[in-house]
Amino acid sequence: MKKRILAAFLCLSLNLHSQETAIVTGANRGIGLGFASELLQRNYHVIATYRDEASALKNLKNQYPETLTLYQLDVTDQEGIRRFAATVKTVDLLVLNAGIKGYPPGTKLTDSTDAYFRNALEVNTIAPNNLIRAFFPLLIEKENSCILYISSGVSSTVQNGSGGYPGYRESKEAGNALTWNWSIQLIREWKERHPDKLSQTPLAVAISVQVMLKQIWVEIMLL
Ligand SMILES: NC(=O)c1ccc[n+]([C@@H]2O[C@H](COP(=O)([O-])OP(=O)(O)OC[C@H]3O[C@@H](n4cnc5c(N)ncnc54)[C@H](OP(=O)(O)O)[C@@H]3O)[C@@H](O)[C@H]2O)c1
Repeated sequence: MKKRILAAFLCLSLNLHSQETAIVTGANRGIGLGFASELLQRNYHVIATYRDEASALKNLKNQYPETLTLYQLDVTDQEGIRRFAATVKTVDLLVLNAGIKGYPPGTKLTDSTDAYFRNALEVNTIAPNNLIRAFFPLLIEKENSCILYISSGVSSTVQNGSGGYPGYRESKEAGNALTWNWSIQLIREWKERHPDKLSQTPLAVAISVQVMLKQIWVEIMLL
C-alpha cells in the first residue's frame, strides 16, 4: 500500500540545487532528518531544529560542519520561536515538519478526548502558524522563498473513507488551510513590493512557470 504525504508547497519558486538557507523543524529523526540530509546534499545551508536528543543530527553535523546549524526548539514554545527567529538572518525554505498524532496508538474516535485534540492542534496547527509568522519578514525578502508544510494524506476530508485519526486529521487539515492563507499573504506582499516584475504581458515561459508554481499542491508519493 502506498503511504501518502500531502505537502503544501507555497513557493514563489523552487530551486533545489542552490546555496540557500533552509529551516527544518523536528529534524532529529524520521522525515525531518531525511529532509535535512537531502537538502545538505543539495548544497543548502540547513538550520535543523530538534527537541531533546539529537545524536543522528550530531553525526550529520560531523559530515557537514560548515553548512549545518543545530538549534534546540520545542515548536509549541511561542517565546522560543521568537528567540530562534532572532538568531536567523536569512531563510529561503521553511520546512514545517515537526508533527504528532496527539493520541495514544489505537485510540478510537469514541474514546478521544479534548486533550488529544489540543495536543495535535498545538503542534500541527498553532506551531506552524507561529513559525510562519516569525519567519515571514525574512521569507518576504526573497524572490524564491518557499514554505513547505508537511501535511498528510489523511488531512483531506473528501478522501476520508476510513475514519479514525482523531484530532490528527483535523489539525493537519487546519494546517493546510493556514498555510494556504499565508501563501496568499506572501504572494500579495511580494507583488506589492515588486510590481515591475508582474506587469509584463505576454509573460515569458520561465515567468509563467514560476507563477504557476506559486500556488500548487504537490502530492509526494512514498512507496
Ligand atoms: N511517516 C508518515 O507516514 C507520515 C505520513 C503523513 C504525514 N507525516 C508527517 O510528516 C511529519 C514527520 O513525520 P515522521 O514520520 O518523521 O514523524 P516522527 O518520526 O514521529 O518525527 C516527528 C518529529 O517531530 C518532532 N516533534 C514532535 N513534537 C514536537 C514539538 N513539540 N517540538 C519540536 N519537535 C517536535 C519530533 O521530535 P522528538 O524526537 O523530540 O519527539 C520528531 O523530530 C509529521 O508532521 C507527520 O505528521 C508523516
